[in-house]
Amino acid sequence: MSKQFDVVVIGGGPGGYIAAIRAAQLGFNVACIDAWSNDKGGPAPGGTCTNVGCIPSKALLQSSEHYEHAGKHFADHGIGVAGLSLDIGKMLGRKDAVVKQNNEGILYLFKKNKVTFFHGRGSFARAAEGGWEIQVAGAAAETLVARHVIVATGSNARQLPGAPFDEVNILSNDGALRIPAVPKKLGLIGSGVIGLEMGSVWRRLGAEVTILEGLPTFLGAVDEQIAKEAHKAFTKQGLKIELGVKVGAIANDGAKGVTVQYADAKGEAKVLAVDKLIVSIGRVPNTDGLNADAVGLKLDERGAIVVDELCRTNLPNVWAVGDVVRGPMLAHKAEEEGVAVAERIAGQHGHVNFDTIPWVIYTSPEIAWVGQTEQQLKAAGRAYKAGTFPFLANGRARALGDTTGMVKFLADATTDEILGVHIVGPMASELIAEAVVAMEFKASAEDIARICHAHPSLSEATKEAALAVDKRTLNF
Ligand code: FAD
Ligand code: NAI
Repeated sequence: MSKQFDVVVIGGGPGGYIAAIRAAQLGFNVACIDAWSNDKGGPAPGGTCTNVGCIPSKALLQSSEHYEHAGKHFADHGIGVAGLSLDIGKMLGRKDAVVKQNNEGILYLFKKNKVTFFHGRGSFARAAEGGWEIQVAGAAAETLVARHVIVATGSNARQLPGAPFDEVNILSNDGALRIPAVPKKLGLIGSGVIGLEMGSVWRRLGAEVTILEGLPTFLGAVDEQIAKEAHKAFTKQGLKIELGVKVGAIANDGAKGVTVQYADAKGEAKVLAVDKLIVSIGRVPNTDGLNADAVGLKLDERGAIVVDELCRTNLPNVWAVGDVVRGPMLAHKAEEEGVAVAERIAGQHGHVNFDTIPWVIYTSPEIAWVGQTEQQLKAAGRAYKAGTFPFLANGRARALGDTTGMVKFLADATTDEILGVHIVGPMASELIAEAVVAMEFKASAEDIARICHAHPSLSEATKEAALAVDKRTLNF
């Protein structure tokens, strides 16, 4: 006997579990199917984000930052640390406990919202009367019939040809989060978001880290001035970043480590020998096992599910959200799409504003931005004004002992509307929220400049950067 639902969500990552909860809040009878298992074989909903992405990486970034502070910066505050030691097993265990709390939190939320959870792999069987028949393969096989299906199956790490992940020597984001002992030499391919975050974790813990990046520009999508400042800070910390390289053969020599042959930016042949290699060159949408062909679900050449601006696929009442569709691969983007789709199914006007999705790179200094970069505005021929304010001139940053970086505002030359805000520095991840709100409300730089900000706070740098657009900073 098949079980009937109004909405079946395939995938329980941030796109899927949030869509399921929102649909249940709207009064639908909802099921969510997720395949992720914990080390005991039990359910571990939350997807990449919770299990091998956002949450565990931030746990390790926090732990490794504490370690670096204790070893290098506490002395500046007059605090002596004798016998500093590192228990990597405990650090990884803490990270796993944080992940588990989040898995359990999602199972609790499903119960609270009366979402029926199935632990297993969901796939399309056929079009059925009143919707779609979905098979669940897992400990308990089930057949579900759904009036609406939301596909939120996420993404997987992209492999380099000839260098498959073994998660021992050649690591994806998964293995990168559970290296059992700090490698003496760590290599990374790709100086994108994962490369910089995971490179920072293992450098802080003592590894000698080299990142090989194919493009000649560092963080090309980031505002150039901000990227330059960040590059300077990372290099000073000891991250070795080689730009414009061409990676060649990679040999996985087991206990001896990994060797990477590459041509540097000048075309000279080089070899990088490391104990472990993390490959972080982007991610591919995950549609494996969905049986998309059987029902004619359309995929693009990258394997992503083709959707329109409302996340509708080519099949009636089949929707797709998150990493498995176009757009930035970010947890909060997946969540926003999940909520919007649930609301559209309910006949409401769910809305996602792609122009105000913030980006954060959780390195130290953190990098965060929303809206357009200076190079994008120049390319579009848009007349703009820029204002920057350095954390060096911010009282709270001085008190924290963390004065690297700046806040930068870009505003329309005529209307003063904020077009982009870019931050490199302490707590950029939190500071960016004010800019997102301002841009959602179509604020001008002057609006922010005239708002009272608490003193002393890092947010005063935001106010001052807004003042700088009109060349009237008060503290610089
Ligand atoms: P996923 O989280 O990938 O979830 C998909 C789920 O579907 C998985 O549980 C999978 O097992 C399941 N699934 C797949 N196929 C099936 C099937 N057929 N049946 C049942 N279940 C299935 N983003 C941020 O915004 N901030 C960050 O700080 C951040 N840090 C990251 C760090 C790392 C190391 C990585 C790798 C990613 C990070 N991301 C971050 C990106 C973020 O993790 C993704 O954008 C987000 O998880 C996408 O959500 P999703 O729901 O689309 O897919
Ligand atoms: P990425 O797209 O951020 O960076 C990949 C980098 O690898 C790019 O700089 C690219 O030029 C380079 N590259 C690609 N092929 C290469 C090759 N053959 N040789 C050398 N360099 C090569 O992808 P990444 O870091 O794998 O992360 C995937 C996605 O996960 C991110 O784009 C982001 O959407 C998400 N993520 C988000 C985080 C956050 O929000 N803080 C943290 C980590 C991941």
